[in-house]
Amino acid sequence: MNSLQRKLFALSFAACAVAFAQKFEQLAPTPPMGWNSWNKFSCNISEQLIRETADAMATNGMKDAGYQYINIDDCWHGQRDAQGFIQPDPQRFPSGMKALADYVHSKGLKLGIYSDAGWKTCGGRPGSRGREYQDAQTYAQWGIDYLKYDWCFVDGLNAEGAYLTMRDALYAAGRPMVFSICEWGNQKPWLWGAKIGHLWRTTGDIKACFDCIEDHGTWKSSGILQILDMQNGIREYAGPGHWNDPDMLEVGNGMSVNEDRAHFSMWCMLAAPLIAGNDLRKMSKDVREILTNKDVIAVDQDSLGIQGFQFSANGALEVWFKPLAEDAWAMCVLNRSTNGQKFQFDFKAQTVSDSFSKRDAKFDSITYNVRDVWTKKNLGTTSTPLSADVPAHDVLMVRLSKQ
Ligand code: GLA
Repeated sequence: MNSLQRKLFALSFAACAVAFAQKFEQLAPTPPMGWNSWNKFSCNISEQLIRETADAMATNGMKDAGYQYINIDDCWHGQRDAQGFIQPDPQRFPSGMKALADYVHSKGLKLGIYSDAGWKTCGGRPGSRGREYQDAQTYAQWGIDYLKYDWCFVDGLNAEGAYLTMRDALYAAGRPMVFSICEWGNQKPWLWGAKIGHLWRTTGDIKACFDCIEDHGTWKSSGILQILDMQNGIREYAGPGHWNDPDMLEVGNGMSVNEDRAHFSMWCMLAAPLIAGNDLRKMSKDVREILTNKDVIAVDQDSLGIQGFQFSANGALEVWFKPLAEDAWAMCVLNRSTNGQKFQFDFKAQTVSDSFSKRDAKFDSITYNVRDVWTKKNLGTTSTPLSADVPAHDVLMVRLSKQ
C-alpha cells in the first residue's frame, strides 16, 4: 500500500468503527414519556398487569397526551436456558415477552424492559454481566423498545465501560431501543452518558413523600424536594437525545393533590423523563388530570429541550424559569413549606437571563401574556406585577408568551 492507500484504509476503518459503535439516535428528541411498574408494584408484576396498564394508557387520555412506553422493571425474569438465553418467569409471564410486546404494540404503545450491568439485578434476578450481546439480541427478538439498565452487584465495574458495552450490544442487535442508564449518579453519568444512553438517573431512588429521606441502611430513598435539590449544577449536560433523569414519577402514589401537582410541575421544569409510577387502572380524577395536563407537559416536551433553572430562593418560595421555543418562558413558583405563602413578582424590575441558553427575558422591553397552566386562566401581562397565594407544598406555574 502506498501512503494514500494507507490513509484511505485507515479512514474507512475509522468510519466503520463509528458506524458500529454508537447509540441509536433520534429516539428521544424530547424526554421519554411512559409508565414503569416499580414505584407502585415492585416485584408484584405479571403479564396481566402489563396488558391492563397498556389498555388503560391507550384509553385514559395518557396516550393522547404523549405517553408511549410501558416499562417492565425488575423481577420479570425466570432462569437462563441451557444455552444461556434469559426466559421470563413462566408463572407471571406465561405467554412470553414476544406476545406481550405484540399486544402493547397493537395498542400503539411501546414496551420496555429492565436488566442490570452486574451479575444480579437489584431484586436478585439474573443480571446481564457477560451476557450483554446475548441479552440485547433476545430483547430485540422479543420486540422490546426501551431498556432500563441498573447498577446492582457490579463488583468494581467501571460504569462508563459497562454501559458502553450494553450500548454496543443493543446497536449490534439492530433494534432501536431507548437506553436508560440507572447508576444513580454515582460516577457522574452526565459527564459521559450522552454518547451512550438517552437518559441517566442522577440520584438514588425516589420515594412518594414530598419532604423526607428514608434510610434503608446501605442506601437511602429521597422525597421530591430532596431529589430536586440534588439536580443542582447539571442542567447543561441535558438536551435533545440525552436527559438528566431525576427518577420516575410518584404522582398518584399517596401524596396530596398539591404535592402531586408540585412534583409533576417541577419534573416538567427540569425537562425530566415523565415515567408515571402509579396504578393506571384505578386513578382518581385529580391524578389523571395532573398526568394529562397538556399545557404542563408542553413545558417538559418543549422542542428546545433546555432544562429549567432556579432563579431565586426566598424563604420557602423558589422561582424557576425554563426557556421555551418561540421566545416563550415557563415560570414556576414552588412553595416548599407546610404553610401557604404570598407571592409577589414585579417582572419589569427583574432581569431573567440564562447564560447557558443565551436567552434573556427582557421584561423591560418585551411584554408577555401570563397564563396559569393549571387553572388555564389568563393572569394579565408582565407589564404589571403578579401577586398570588401559593398553597402549602404546591406551585404557581405560568407560561409567558410574547404578545
Ligand atoms: C434500583 C433502581 C430502581 C428499581 C429497583 C429494582 O433500586 O434504582 O428504580 O429499578 O432497583 O430492583
